[in-house]
Amino acid sequence: MSEHAPVTIDVHLNNQDPAAIREEIRAGLLETPRRLPTRYFYDDRGSELFEQICELPTYYPTRTEHALLKTVADDVVARTGAEELVELGSGAATKTRTLLDAMARTKQLKFYVPFDVSEGIVRRVAHELVAEYEGLQVHGVVGDFLAHLEHIPQGGKRLVGILGGTIGNLRPESAAELLSSIEREMASGDFLLVGVQLITDTDRLEAAYNDSVGLTAAFNKNMLRVLKSVIGVDFDLDAFDHVARFNSAEHRIEMRLRSVREQVIPIPDLELTLHLKEGEEILTEISTKYTRALAEAPLMQAGFTPVAWYTDPDHLHGLALARKP
Ligand code: SAH
Ligand code: TRP
Repeated sequence: MSEHAPVTIDVHLNNQDPAAIREEIRAGLLETPRRLPTRYFYDDRGSELFEQICELPTYYPTRTEHALLKTVADDVVARTGAEELVELGSGAATKTRTLLDAMARTKQLKFYVPFDVSEGIVRRVAHELVAEYEGLQVHGVVGDFLAHLEHIPQGGKRLVGILGGTIGNLRPESAAELLSSIEREMASGDFLLVGVQLITDTDRLEAAYNDSVGLTAAFNKNMLRVLKSVIGVDFDLDAFDHVARFNSAEHRIEMRLRSVREQVIPIPDLELTLHLKEGEEILTEISTKYTRALAEAPLMQAGFTPVAWYTDPDHLHGLALARKP
């Protein structure tokens, strides 16, 4: 018997200052162009929709990264010697099992730390994984990785992972800030593995975010449902269309909600009345696409040394492995 309980879950989201949350949303809505914070996609329903998106034929990134991980996981584990995997934005942790399997094969696997804003999915994954991996301890953290990284429990020799192109969902300034704060939390000799989507043809990129069954649209609009619980507004979901386009100058997909008609939406919690013109768009998500150089530059900027770069045969996805010197 282990002296520790195999599952621990810490929840840090409740500590957030409601005034600061309201101010962030208000400021985004008043910016030109208007935008909303991406993390409001992910309540339990959002996480579920996201898992369904990952299985769509047009959504190639998940299966591409999964296949790539299968071919490189042993090499990653051999190079890092990691005993502990900390995963930021862990979600359903489906692809994570590939890394955990490789760690288990070398008998090094001790700890897994799933870190996500979505509490339901952190709890589910923690219980699934302790059942699947003998002797594994899971210490889940429910929090915002832009605010709560210091709550990552101290551990042994670590590999920190951000998979699925999640880093590309951050604006460059936030991505840089996240990488710097990860670097501060890591010990010298720890490793970071970042999964990024690569720049490819526009049709393929746009098709991935415009599926014919409407799952991505439902995911995009889910943000409006989530916001109801945060700022008390009852948005009319039918009054918005899902839009996803590739912005080649910024090499990213941009997802928006477009108002199908003129709308006047009072938001008392924000002391704001939102006037939307017909056709006016609110930016809800970006998904940046990279080259190797574009992926490694912010890593080096944050103080990491790139040690390996892996890609699939079609060059759709990259995995950058870096080390804290
Ligand atoms: N790693 C998984 C999931 C990627 S989706 C995969 O590759 O399939 C992005 C994940 O990051 C979601 O599970 C979402 O809940 C989480 N997430 C998004 N913003 C976050 C934030 N600010 N802090 C913590 N988790 C966040
Ligand atoms: N990071 C992945 C991507 O950019 C997953 C993702 C995040 C996503 N937000 C999304 C996929 C919105 C579809 C729609 O593709």
